[in-house]
Amino acid sequence: MSRETLYSIRMRSSIDGKHVSGAERIVPVDRLRPTIDELVARPAESGHRPDHMSLTVDELDPARVRRIRGLDIVMLDIADPQASRADAARVLEHAGVSPRAARIAIDLLLAGPGPSGTVMRGAMIVDAETGARLEQDRARGVRATRFDWSESGENGIRALLASASLTHFRVREALALASKVAHAPGIVAELCWSDDPGYTAGYVAVRACGYVRFPRLKELGSATGGRAFFVRHEGFDREAFTRYLCEEAVLIDEPGAYRGVLDPELFLASLPK
Ligand code: COA
Ligand code: AMP
Repeated sequence: MSRETLYSIRMRSSIDGKHVSGAERIVPVDRLRPTIDELVARPAESGHRPDHMSLTVDELDPARVRRIRGLDIVMLDIADPQASRADAARVLEHAGVSPRAARIAIDLLLAGPGPSGTVMRGAMIVDAETGARLEQDRARGVRATRFDWSESGENGIRALLASASLTHFRVREALALASKVAHAPGIVAELCWSDDPGYTAGYVAVRACGYVRFPRLKELGSATGGRAFFVRHEGFDREAFTRYLCEEAVLIDEPGAYRGVLDPELFLASLPK
């Protein structure tokens, strides 16, 4: 295995103190310069003109970078957001999230999970049995960071997503985040949809079921959204969970399998019991 030095590069930008864009990569030294250029150009590509940008570069110990396989990918063919959320809840329940915890999290993402219905800066941590919120700070939540596709993983996932006509960087990055989260100690499942009013797609991610994408998990124009990390009720160690998500570097070496666009009933019936 290569012991080449790797760097974590993270960019975030804001306008009037409001976060508008964030992205990160893990690359070897010869990719530092082009990757920094790519990340610096990101806000403009998304139509933003930030008045503040922060760029952080940290050297990583290559021996401590964990290598994983990406989640399998499946797309469910449902047009209606309410029906999509009901099916998202069924996938969550199949993974071990109680109906009550799934309902609580979905209602929170619809209402805005931060204080007074605001959008959070990270994800909620939700007890998969009771639905109780476990994050220390309800405005911040917890943010997964220090993850990326390796060079071979990136080539593989680009080709795979192109074959599914999903060429936007957002899908590749959400899939990388979800793949890291799915390997967290104590995780049961993740639910996500964006707070971007123009982006209605969302997903449920579970290590055994894959990244299950819904094209319309929320109504077009809705400015609420976020992420819920559902965790085991018994023996959950929040410190170990947070340390893994925020500090442990993860590279995804190969994509999972692409299962295509499926009818939700067929997909649910195909899940391992
Ligand atoms: N929303 C709002 N504010 C954010 C933010 C977000 N998503 N991400 C960062 N910030 C702001 C906050 O004020 C934060 O302070 P806080 O810790 O009190 O919340 C501050 O920036 C510093 O954040 P930090 O995470 O320490 O910065 P960083 O430079 O190390 O990393 C990101 C920034 C955005 C790259 C990283 O947090 C992240 O989210 N990485 C994943 C990106 C990704 O691929 N997402 C997939 C999207 S589909
Ligand atoms: P996005 O996918 O960037 O539209 O983000 C959707 C929501 O996920 C945000 O509103 C945050 O609540 C949350 N979020 C953003 N970045 C992270 C992260 N790195 N880890 C966990 N949650 C995040």
